[in-house]
Amino acid sequence: MSEEHAPYGSHPSETPPQSLKRVRTRHFQAAKENGIKITGLTSYDYLTAGIFDRAGIDFLLVGDSAGNAVFGYDTTLPVTTDELIPLCRAVARAVRRALVIADMPFGSYEVGPEEALHTAIRFMKETGAHGVKLEGGERSAEMIRRIVNAGIPVMAHIGFTPQSEHGLGGHVIQGRGEGADQLLRDAHAVEEAGAFAVVLEMVPSAAAARVTKELEIPTISVGAGPYCDGQLLVWTDWAGLTTGRIPKFVKKFAAIGDTLYQAAVDFRAQVDSGEYPGPQHEYSE
Ligand code: KIV
Repeated sequence: MSEEHAPYGSHPSETPPQSLKRVRTRHFQAAKENGIKITGLTSYDYLTAGIFDRAGIDFLLVGDSAGNAVFGYDTTLPVTTDELIPLCRAVARAVRRALVIADMPFGSYEVGPEEALHTAIRFMKETGAHGVKLEGGERSAEMIRRIVNAGIPVMAHIGFTPQSEHGLGGHVIQGRGEGADQLLRDAHAVEEAGAFAVVLEMVPSAAAARVTKELEIPTISVGAGPYCDGQLLVWTDWAGLTTGRIPKFVKKFAAIGDTLYQAAVDFRAQVDSGEYPGPQHEYSE
């Protein structure tokens, strides 16, 4: 959503806090209908959430990518609801405007609609999140329907779904060739189940464009090209903090990792040399 189309009418950094209006799921729909792009970043803590919120990012996803970025697991599979809840709570406390979405981790919804609803209720009740996200198209439609029927907004997630990386044979682009038909079936299934938006991860731009055209709900790209209704990135990739391989679709908007590294090197050198702390950092008697 661009400045002039933000729900409160101006950019959050220029708007007094009391006049900020919360982004709602209906604003996602309005954005699609008016051709306004939606922006999202992942966030796992109070400070980054506050920065992203003040900058006007429309939604913050407390992603299960916290499994990698916060907890240091190799994949997102081990992260649990109990681990994500405190992160989600911190993010929800920080925001005035952005919609906060809690990612339902692997093992917290696959058993069936009742389990899925139970997990969604935990996130809503214990964190202050405004909705949940879960992975899977046709296979997750019943879970989405059950959660939505309880009044909880659901963001769906199709294409490459990291929680199924072993089933999918690794980090493989989805929706290519005949896979495009499955992608469309998944997209229609989640829309029909009541999702208010759908994340498309690592799919060819042309397939994502077709889904975006066919669906009434907004599509959010994570590596699905420019024709989606919005763009989402994992903040640690986007800010240049992640070490190791980052996906081709990521653009680094900052070099936070290098900045922090240099700051730590400088701190160490200044403590060694006695330059820090200086007189201005001392308390007098
Ligand atoms: O957990 C996450 O960060 C995600 C996005 C990559 C969509 O699910």
